[in-house]
Amino acid sequence: MRYSDTSLAPCGCATAARVNAPRRRVIRIAAAGLAAPLAFAAWPAAESLAGDRLVEEDAEGAPAPLRVADLKPGKPMVAFPFDVKRNAPRDDSRLNKIVLIRLPEAEMSADVRARAAGGVLAYSAICTHQACDVKTWLVKERALVCYCHSSKFALLDGGTVVSGPASRALPAIPLSLEGDQLVIAGAFTAAPGGSQT
Ligand code: FES
Repeated sequence: MRYSDTSLAPCGCATAARVNAPRRRVIRIAAAGLAAPLAFAAWPAAESLAGDRLVEEDAEGAPAPLRVADLKPGKPMVAFPFDVKRNAPRDDSRLNKIVLIRLPEAEMSADVRARAAGGVLAYSAICTHQACDVKTWLVKERALVCYCHSSKFALLDGGTVVSGPASRALPAIPLSLEGDQLVIAGAFTAAPGGSQT
């Protein structure tokens, strides 16, 4: 199954309906005179995916749990969490897409290194601007770029916005290793999805 939340436009041009509902609540709160800093407090809480494996987004046949060696250094791969209890990928929402990239640990900030496993980092693959897929690594700039409106994210420094219209960092998700398999070790650091229309 893929994307049962069909209101989420894969082009990312429209912000997800699941995300828009809380935004509408935020607008009503703002209209009532409360301050903008409340905006992200109304977002849905990030679900812990601890224990899930990861499988390649476009894997053919039976999906195989990804291993560190499946990631070529500096080459991003888009994956879905794989629920080992249901023996199925969590591919019913594109908000679950995760971009994996293997980078030199020596270049990572301490916080980022603590979330990495075997040099592999994991972030939401959904741009925080208007929810396009984000999966292209710029080698010289050391940034992940979203080609919809050119937001760039510093994955080695917590997914912070380097440039472009996105106003919040790409949510990260911690990894660990079981043998050589990549395992999700917790929840996204913030709810994935676009936040601006
Ligand atoms: S959707 Fe990514 S920069 Fe606009």
